[in-house]
Amino acid sequence: MALVMRLLYDEHADFSKLLDILMRQVAKCNEGTTPDYEIIEEVLDYSLSYPVLCHHTKEDLVYRKLRVRDAAATDAIGDLEADHEELALLTRRLAATFHQTLHQAGAQREWLSHMIEEFVQFYRRHIDREEMLFFPAALRTLTAEDWDEIDAQVTNHEDPLFGDKVSRRFRALLDDIVRLNRADARS
Ligand SMILES: [Fe+2]
Ligand SMILES: [Fe+2]
Repeated sequence: MALVMRLLYDEHADFSKLLDILMRQVAKCNEGTTPDYEIIEEVLDYSLSYPVLCHHTKEDLVYRKLRVRDAAATDAIGDLEADHEELALLTRRLAATFHQTLHQAGAQREWLSHMIEEFVQFYRRHIDREEMLFFPAALRTLTAEDWDEIDAQVTNHEDPLFGDKVSRRFRALLDDIVRLNRADARS
């Protein structure tokens, strides 16, 4: 499998963990417990950077090449580039709402948890569509030369959370990921 596709699948698995972490915080809100705002903030901070700047851009390269090779396939998948723009907007909006409601309680907190849930659902649907339609179509259709061309265009940025060196700004989130991984390993 082309390097870029291995990276894309791995990044989906990593990001899905963050969506699970967000939903755990939503569950806390729904139970009337105070969520861990530091963790929500770090997930949003990460979501605004690496996925938007590095994950979606890699997918856009693959999607554009697939459109050249098989326009009917990309028509069936839908407009992924527009989806990526919408996800970036949704993330920015959620981050803005988060900062506005950080020091407020009650209805605002419910509104925040509702927005987080919408964000998670949108992202999960997007990932599912890519893994069910987009990735298999790309793997079926693109040639070895296409993959070499795409791999050469990918600029490799270090992932600040799931990469070899974790940025200090994601310390609370990393602890939560480690806790979750341990719990998964036990179950
Ligand atoms: Fe995507
Ligand atoms: Fe993706």
